[in-house]
Amino acid sequence: MLPIKANSNAGSPKRSKVGKWICFDTSINLKLLLAKCTMAVAPTAIGSSKKRLNTGSINVPNPNPEKKVNPAPNKTVIATITYSIVQKSKKYAVQFKFKDYFYIKNKMIDFRSDTVTMPTDKMKEAMLSATLGDDVFCEDPTVNELEAYAAELFGMEKALYCSSGTQTNQIAINVHVQPGGELVTSVESHIYKYEGGGIAKNTGASVRLIHGNRGRLTLSDVEESVNPDDVHFPVTQLVCLEDTSNRGGGAIYDFEEIKKISTFCKDNRLPLHLDGARLMNAMVENGVDLKQYATQFDSISLCLSKGLGAPVGSLLLGSNDFIKQSRRVRKVFGGGMRQAGIIAAGGLYALKNNIHRLKEDHAHAKTLEASLNALPWVKEVVPVETNIVVAILEDKSKRDLVINELSKRGIKIMGFGPGMLRFVTHMDVCDSAIDQTVEALNKLIV
Ligand SMILES: Cc1ncc(COP(=O)(O)O)c(C=O)c1O
Repeated sequence: MLPIKANSNAGSPKRSKVGKWICFDTSINLKLLLAKCTMAVAPTAIGSSKKRLNTGSINVPNPNPEKKVNPAPNKTVIATITYSIVQKSKKYAVQFKFKDYFYIKNKMIDFRSDTVTMPTDKMKEAMLSATLGDDVFCEDPTVNELEAYAAELFGMEKALYCSSGTQTNQIAINVHVQPGGELVTSVESHIYKYEGGGIAKNTGASVRLIHGNRGRLTLSDVEESVNPDDVHFPVTQLVCLEDTSNRGGGAIYDFEEIKKISTFCKDNRLPLHLDGARLMNAMVENGVDLKQYATQFDSISLCLSKGLGAPVGSLLLGSNDFIKQSRRVRKVFGGGMRQAGIIAAGGLYALKNNIHRLKEDHAHAKTLEASLNALPWVKEVVPVETNIVVAILEDKSKRDLVINELSKRGIKIMGFGPGMLRFVTHMDVCDSAIDQTVEALNKLIV
């Protein structure tokens, strides 16, 4: 049972009337929500000890269920309080309408990744009402609907719902490349750097690494990396691009360059795979038609559980034949799921509703970029193109100090290599969370 107290800044608490503005400390509002909006309300909440509010349920209507708001623990927000008195039982029904609606489940502003988002109520409703079947028998109607919807969206023949982006990438590599073959990719790519050596372990393939520009390859990079037909060399069997590039600080590919690489690959009968974990972040910025974009690739992996906000899942897209083989590999990798529609429904909801709002995340990232650039202890910020902000510190040894100090202020970020910090914006980071972060950064003594 948590008390609600009026903030001292708001003056002494007055007896509330319908519609009266009262200031509350947000840390209290936060507790309020963490207690799932049901708690005892202390007398001070609405003043007079005679008309005290001993118990009550607090129903916080979400004005915009798709826009969740992070807590701002030290900030005061304004809430409207309305209540009615049930004379006999002396119970009051209290309704709060927060200016900033604190819907959060996590107590921190979490910039570590866009994978930390929680499904919204509407998404959860879609998940709970999904019709289900056994997807290993291809009988889950919701999975089938998601796969068909995605294939249509991309203009590709077929899609396959998988558990993660690592799984979709590893399946694609396994289908395209034979053991002992080689694939070409950036030294910064997720498939090489962050998939546990899966290229070697799962497929037994070799990797040709390119140093590229912010995780992106050019046509000449690719041309120079394809092995000649000579028994000394592994046979080059695949080229992999990543758009946007995570290690490249959310960098977007130039579509013209993709087209050149694609033409080269087609001419040389080399499949081209895209790790499009954050492809939609690129698409809302580059103005390229998604279907036209997709025709450049033989296979695409798209994550639903990053900026799009679904709790689980990635899609692998390609031709009928490629997906048929991928389904087999998914099973071998232990990725055949049964009533997967319950999670696929979240992915379908995400694809239908959460693409265009990614622009908000990009605007937030730009605000952070400007704020970081103005700090004396920041040497450089990698120019922001989407939702990833990478700051390089003047003094590399201060990286963990900054991470810890921000953490004490309720802000989680990640180290991204020596002297580097990464902030990723996403749908659970709202305007006020960005304001609070900027304020915290400005106050930090490094
Ligand atoms: C570019 C990129 N590809 C693939 C993945 C893997 O996704 P998952 O975490 O779902 O395996 C990530 C995860 O962060 C990523 O950033």
